[in-house]
Amino acid sequence: MSSPAPTPFGQLGGEAGVRALVDRFYDLMDLEPAYAGIRSLHPTSLDGSRDKLHWFLCGWLGGPDLYVQRFGHPRLRSRHLPYAIGTAERDQWMACMRQAMDERGIDPALALRLAEAFQGTADWMRNQA
Ligand code: HEM
Repeated sequence: MSSPAPTPFGQLGGEAGVRALVDRFYDLMDLEPAYAGIRSLHPTSLDGSRDKLHWFLCGWLGGPDLYVQRFGHPRLRSRHLPYAIGTAERDQWMACMRQAMDERGIDPALALRLAEAFQGTADWMRNQA
């Protein structure tokens, strides 16, 4: 019997590890002037955004589908349509996530793999030229 392949969710340390990454991501969005553009698209309080991204990423990274259990199909692109997202916003989101992964000390090979996956999703969220 071979053990199942490790998921990114497991490699990040499960729910607590994913939460720590999400918290650093939104802390940086709040703190860093470079991310002020995407911060301004978000609500004043980031509490709900933190919970939703945490629940979503747990499932997306191969762990429990906490987002789907609460809200059903993510319909991620249509849920982002109210926000003007172009290349600048996509690139800020990616830079913020890369910095968060770096500061959390995520293994560089895993961080690279995740950045490639995030890039595809972030690019798909663009709804402006
Ligand atoms: C490309 C740049 C992106 C921008 C500017 C952006 C911005 C936003 C904003 C403003 C919200 C609403 C926050 C709230 O309701 O509290 C949101 C929600 C959300 N975003 Fe993004 N986002 C981006 C990319 C992504 C990516 C790449 C992912 C996943 C990998 C993601 C996952 C989510 C999730 C799960 C929600 C909650 C949806 C809901 O239930 O309403 N976003 N995003």
